Amino acid sequence: MRVEIVKLLKKEGKLSSKTIDEINQIDIHDFSSLVQEIGKEETEYISASEISKDLNTKYIGKELFVFNEVSSTNTLARFLSMNGIADGSVIISEKQTNARGRSGKSWESPLGGVWLSIVLNPHVDYAKLPLITLATGVAVAKTLEKIGVENPEIKWPNDIMINGKKVCGILTEAITKLNTIENVIIGVGIDANLDVEDFPEELQEGTTTLQKELGRKGNENLLIKTFLEEFEEISELFDHEGYEEILKEWRKRSYSIGKIVEVREPFNKNYDAYVLGVSREGALIVEKIDGTLEKVISGECIIKN
Ligand code: BTN
Repeated sequence: MRVEIVKLLKKEGKLSSKTIDEINQIDIHDFSSLVQEIGKEETEYISASEISKDLNTKYIGKELFVFNEVSSTNTLARFLSMNGIADGSVIISEKQTNARGRSGKSWESPLGGVWLSIVLNPHVDYAKLPLITLATGVAVAKTLEKIGVENPEIKWPNDIMINGKKVCGILTEAITKLNTIENVIIGVGIDANLDVEDFPEELQEGTTTLQKELGRKGNENLLIKTFLEEFEEISELFDHEGYEEILKEWRKRSYSIGKIVEVREPFNKNYDAYVLGVSREGALIVEKIDGTLEKVISGECIIKN
């Protein structure tokens, strides 16, 4: 991780005069401070001051770090979360060069999208992680509704869809100690001011963008601000154990319930099933062809009808 971050610092000219040996000797906290310093500098397209202006949150996004280009905001957020940044800090990058998606896939992140990671310290046990993921999906869907998207839907666990095409993905990563979550990094990628043609050909069929759906470019700063407010609202609900309410909001926007899917779970054979609903822990409940019920906790569900 340090190597990736050194590249970032070198690129920004912060370490250009130092040799790798000298860099490796920098104390980790000083190193983290340097990264944070860069994240406080002005960037070209996304503006921390515009996002912060009138930002109506108590702790989410009170610390914003915005970069021109990083490998992955989740990687950087993970590093900073282990080296002294506040709960609710948000790392944003205008571009990512090595971003990660779910199931080990890579994630395209050209200029024009919203690529961010939130650092959270939710004080809950590991079993609650799927619910945090679902809650984030609800926050994105509500954000899109606020900026004028009609009927955004959530494909389990948390792909945000418009008219059957994916516009946003979420990658939740936990830093755990025994069964307790130390920190959660919630990575959100929204295809905002982009054309579908900005993506590799093989992704174009299943992808859409806000620009395409709304027929205009939007204000990325406003989009981020709205999302951070929605996210804080739902994370407060989560902190007060309002799990049923979160699930109700998720079910209302579900793209998966009532569909036939191919379930692809890690270490299991793929199978077709009918989606019945989502459980209280955030698992997908499906009925197999032979009539038996299964709970899908992790993996992917490919929609077949
Ligand atoms: C998915 O596969 O649907 C999840 C995609 C998550 C992408 C976001 S963009 C910001 C953050 N940084 C990453 O490297 N990934 C997440």
